[in-house]
Amino acid sequence: MELKGQVALVTGSTAGIGREAARVLAAAGAEVVVTGRSAERAAEVVREIEGDGGVARFVVADMADLGDVRRLAEEAGEVDILVNNAGIYPFAPTAEQSVETFELLFDVNVRALFFLTAALAPKMVAKGSGSIVNVSSTAAAVGFPGAAAYSATKAAIESLTRTWAMEFEGVRVNTVSPGAVATDTVLANNPDAAEQIGKSTPLGRVGQAREIAEAVLFLASPRSSYVNGANLLVDGGRAII
Ligand SMILES: NC(=O)c1ccc[n+]([C@@H]2O[C@H](COP(=O)([O-])OP(=O)(O)OC[C@H]3O[C@@H](n4cnc5c(N)ncnc54)[C@H](OP(=O)(O)O)[C@@H]3O)[C@@H](O)[C@H]2O)c1
Repeated sequence: MELKGQVALVTGSTAGIGREAARVLAAAGAEVVVTGRSAERAAEVVREIEGDGGVARFVVADMADLGDVRRLAEEAGEVDILVNNAGIYPFAPTAEQSVETFELLFDVNVRALFFLTAALAPKMVAKGSGSIVNVSSTAAAVGFPGAAAYSATKAAIESLTRTWAMEFEGVRVNTVSPGAVATDTVLANNPDAAEQIGKSTPLGRVGQAREIAEAVLFLASPRSSYVNGANLLVDGGRAII
């Protein structure tokens, strides 16, 4: 129970990687604040955590809406661990990228993360401790045709990690960069591309949400007490080819 007494807010925890991260952090003893747009799925994740003997509550918020982001920060209260995981990945070739989707990508993936952190990090600084884990993607550093805008949002996140690791005294800020992960959204939208990426990965397969969640736990917990400003690739070796 290494996270006993700590509160962890995991954005985008009604599904996929965030949901597994919420479960893993709760299993380590943290009280978890689950959030997403779907109250139904948030309640389900809270029930799962409670069924496993953990403690959780949920706050419904749309990360595309700055008012909701501010309300989420207020309703979450003081947190010790912030996992900035919520993200969308509607891909399009650059010439076909609509302005609306471009703006939504930056609003959800970058603007929400920025202002949620801006609201919560000062309380961590005042307390002299805290851990922030930003979820990026190997796409930030590797060229993926058709994912230009998405990749740019993730590159922005990695830059924010480096700045915040220096700016927020006493708070560790790190990035986890997943490769292709078999979440429901990926499997529903582009199963062939995911399988192809998996096959071309040194480990020969896509990742599972739980494997990313374990890396989030490592960076969120005192196990990584001297890791700050780092980017942990959890991609089966995809980024080294
Ligand atoms: N899966 C991959 O292959 C992969 C690879 C690299 C990086 N990543 C990154 O990992 C993170 C999670 O990906 P995933 O595959 O687990 O995604 P997912 O299964 O699609 O889940 C996305 C989560 O984000 C929430 N979300 C989406 N839009 C939101 C909004 N406007 N407001 C509030 N919450 C919102 C969703 O909740 P609601 O639907 O309830 O709103 C859901 O909980 C993302 O940042 C993604 O870029 C994923």
